[in-house]
Amino acid sequence: MSAETGGEKLHMHIDPTERRWIRVSIVVLVVFAIAVTVAGFMLGIQVPTEEQRVDPRSIADTAPWAPLSAEDREACMAEGAHCDPRVQELVPGEKYAVYIIAQMWLFAPNRVPTPESGFEIPAGAEVTFYVTSKDVQHGFKVQNTNVNFMAVPGEVSTLSTTFEDPGTYDFICTEYCGTGHAAMFGSITISG
Ligand code: CUA
Repeated sequence: MSAETGGEKLHMHIDPTERRWIRVSIVVLVVFAIAVTVAGFMLGIQVPTEEQRVDPRSIADTAPWAPLSAEDREACMAEGAHCDPRVQELVPGEKYAVYIIAQMWLFAPNRVPTPESGFEIPAGAEVTFYVTSKDVQHGFKVQNTNVNFMAVPGEVSTLSTTFEDPGTYDFICTEYCGTGHAAMFGSITISG
């Protein structure tokens, strides 16, 4: 359009049907934004995030995924201390961190807390899982919780959940990873 249009008012014509669809689109966007906000902040639904990158070849010897050596563990347990860096009590009774390696075809550790952890995890505690794989892609799902993500070599996946009820919660591999896939599971025990 040129400047010669003079006093004529510039007006973009929008078809009424088109206008209606624009309105519908805006409403849908707003509804989705509200749904995401409610899911994230009110229902506590989280998206698994990539916490950090690690080397899958050396992860089994890397703190805190590596258990203490047999010697160190014995000496530590003789003092009645907490002797498993893979299961950490951050705030007693409230906050715990668990570091798990997935590999063909087991989780290490596969019992949480471990005997050498030296503590129990009580109901009402928030547990954050840091899971990585040292070989192929695995899955990690803790039953009856929101924890369900992939365990990928070289990456650490993490999610937190609060265990309200005492009991033993199984965790399983949810990605087909070979002949031993079905036998790949473990559990976390929450005390009363
Ligand atoms: Cu590991 Cu399926």
